[in-house]
Amino acid sequence: FLRPDLVACTFSGSVAISVAVSAPTRFLVLNALDLSVNRTSIRFQALEPTEVVFFKDDGVLVLGFAKQLPLGEGLLKMDFNGILNDQMRGFYRSKYQYKGKERNMAVTQFESVDARRCFPCWDEPAFKAKFKLTLEVPSELVALSNMPVGNATFAGPIKTVRYLESPPMSTYLVAIVVGLFEYVEGMTTKGTRVRVYTQIGKSNQGKFALDVGVKSLNLYKDYFDTPFPLPKLDMVAIPDFAAGAMENYGLVTYREVALLFDDKSSSASSRQSVAITVAHELAHQWFGNLVTMEWWTHLWLNEGFATWVSHLAVDSFFPQWNIWTQFLDSTTTALRLDSLEASHPIEVEIHHASEVDQIFDAISYDKGASVIRMLQSYLGAERFQKAMASYMKKYAFSNAKTEDLWAVLEKETGEPVKDLMTTWTKQKGYPVINAKIKGDDIEIEQAQFLLDGSSGSGMWIVPITSGCGAYDTQKKFLLKLKRDKMVIGSQCGDRKKGGNFWTKLNINGTGFYRVKYDDELAAALQNALETKKLSLMDKIGTVDDLYALSIARQQTFASLLRLLYGYRGEADYSVLSHINTVTTSIAKVSADATPALAGDIKQLLIKILLSPAEKLGWDPKKGESHLDVMLRPLLLTALVQLGHGKTINEGVRRFNIFTRDRGTSLLPPDTRKAAYLAVMQNVSSSNRSGYDALRKIYKESAEGEERLQVLGILSSCRDKGIVLESLNLIFTSEVRNQDAYILLRGIQPEAREISWNWLKENWELISKTFAGSLITDFVETIVPLFTSNEKAAEISKFFATRTKPGFERTLKQSLENVRISARWAEGIRSEPGLAQTVRELLAKP
Ligand code: BES
Ligand code: ZN
Repeated sequence: FLRPDLVACTFSGSVAISVAVSAPTRFLVLNALDLSVNRTSIRFQALEPTEVVFFKDDGVLVLGFAKQLPLGEGLLKMDFNGILNDQMRGFYRSKYQYKGKERNMAVTQFESVDARRCFPCWDEPAFKAKFKLTLEVPSELVALSNMPVGNATFAGPIKTVRYLESPPMSTYLVAIVVGLFEYVEGMTTKGTRVRVYTQIGKSNQGKFALDVGVKSLNLYKDYFDTPFPLPKLDMVAIPDFAAGAMENYGLVTYREVALLFDDKSSSASSRQSVAITVAHELAHQWFGNLVTMEWWTHLWLNEGFATWVSHLAVDSFFPQWNIWTQFLDSTTTALRLDSLEASHPIEVEIHHASEVDQIFDAISYDKGASVIRMLQSYLGAERFQKAMASYMKKYAFSNAKTEDLWAVLEKETGEPVKDLMTTWTKQKGYPVINAKIKGDDIEIEQAQFLLDGSSGSGMWIVPITSGCGAYDTQKKFLLKLKRDKMVIGSQCGDRKKGGNFWTKLNINGTGFYRVKYDDELAAALQNALETKKLSLMDKIGTVDDLYALSIARQQTFASLLRLLYGYRGEADYSVLSHINTVTTSIAKVSADATPALAGDIKQLLIKILLSPAEKLGWDPKKGESHLDVMLRPLLLTALVQLGHGKTINEGVRRFNIFTRDRGTSLLPPDTRKAAYLAVMQNVSSSNRSGYDALRKIYKESAEGEERLQVLGILSSCRDKGIVLESLNLIFTSEVRNQDAYILLRGIQPEAREISWNWLKENWELISKTFAGSLITDFVETIVPLFTSNEKAAEISKFFATRTKPGFERTLKQSLENVRISARWAEGIRSEPGLAQTVRELLAKP
């Protein structure tokens, strides 16, 4: 029972928990945190505890009784009070506007370990229980929970709402939302009621998510061959929300931009991310909620699988989005993080509640999803799906660990799944496969790849795939040893004559590894790229591998530039999105490594990106594809960042028209950010009209995405005063705490010193204001902007007395990145013939 007071921002409540005492004990040990429990109310059956002790750092409550407890089931009862906090965790308040007045709503966010902030409970995923909730709230408000309302009784301004009992579920999935909302409604083929709740007046913007939601429930029911077990599913947009979305059983919560889509004011990339987010959270209704990880060590089962299967779902709803090609973004992000010494295994040991938050990272999500894709492509889609369905049935309403999944897959397919997958989930890192041509063979050798140029001792069972000369002659085998060889046949093309010979390993990037080719194979591959023989996915893998090898100084910077040059004329969104990642990083490192050459290198990068950008122009074309609509802002933004004068001027021109006529067709939602960024290139403390105009848009706009687009660029400038003014907005009510990271991400390398000083000066305030994962954003965005060992030492010293368990790992990773950049820059500085290569490429027609 919970009674939130939305004016005083407090709540009171009581629990009655049925506990089975299975062995003699005098103690009950459960979780509770920041709750004031009424000691005299505590009873186990008729017994009163003689000791009540809180261990605040552990979120643990110990009840000691005078005598041993009777064996068997008993009821534990207590009353308690708490505060509806502002930290977006536990039971918290979020603010919204209604009829020009500010109002509070009460919301829960329990994952990972914050149910204990709302009511005393056994707050671990394996302690599943049936929940029966009662809420006492103002009569005019919408009050939602996991289950439908069983009955409601009204006493004037107050109503008591009783919800139906839930099936067995973990505490982190319990949810409550109390506030003013309206909704749109749909129905699955099996008759499950689905609703999307929004702020009053915005329910139209919930229609897209509703459609994806209904389709997702239909698809997953078939994929897992298991019905959705609850009578209803609600999805709610919450104005203050720490994560992107949360899969609470039957009551999924979202930050507004992750759920709402407005035909007039939202961009194509926002449409796509709403679809992915909804598909991800609804996948959890099976994978996570119905079958739950046994302990946080297996979090990746939840997040990796939901990430993977959300792509499967979205690919089936929107085949034209090429979402599996875009998925390589996840794979390359994970490969990047996992090449650090400070990475961690997918299955990571968790000893304390405070360690859980930081494993919601690219290893659990993106490496997790990538190794599932690797396994699925090794086993085949059909066999894989069948096995997943039987796993789901075997562990429904219960818990499972990683090995349980492997056991089912192994039994269903007869393949050595456990041995294979254990090498990927129990050790951190991944291999680089060195491929060398020797006569008619290709010799391959695996070695752990680390970005700092060293090599670790890991060994993997690697599903090797190779294509040669064409895509219909693929080969597959498992590399179990350090070294092995593959025979290349005549279908690879004629080596002697050169020209049509090529071979590529890790076809379509399904494997979680990199490949380093010898000179002959590399030249053949570059030739295959330039003669348009490679698939989109292989184009991405080829550039990302060489990029990483160049950072590790296993390949020259010049060879990276030469390969990149082979991508001029590329027109695909996903490929160019990767090229953009690489060019951004190159522009940054070359400014530090070779200032004299940095200008020329920028010109070269512009040369690579300019022709597809000119083809697309600023104006959308009728009937163009979703991917082209997303490509346009990608390229325009990249050109603006690289300082391309013509693009900047055009952006400023369009912005000026936009400020006079906000409805102008010259600046639709998709290209606005590029124009905003162009404006920021010229503003300074003495010439701030553009900046003021942007701030005005931020203040006045009612549309979530437009506001965030402005927020994302306000710190993107070189002027010290402006950057500081923007960063300080973080401490004002103009920027919700949930959005601070968006401002931080805009900081450019040119502003790193100012930003770092700002961070140091404000650290006390920052660490007081931002809880949990939100604080890591400050470290993660500012620290990696540096590229010198001296700076790494200084930063490390600053944090030596200021670390907290919550961001230790992130700090380590960020510092390692700084040292890696420093080493990369050093290598570039001393690379002979680099200037020559740059000039040569610039001079090419
Ligand atoms: N279970 C997470 C939400 C979460 C994240 C809870 C971190 C606690 C800590 C949810 O399923 C999720 O993964 N949300 C993602 C969005 C998704 C599309 C990748 C998020 O919040 O970014
Ligand atoms: Zn998730």
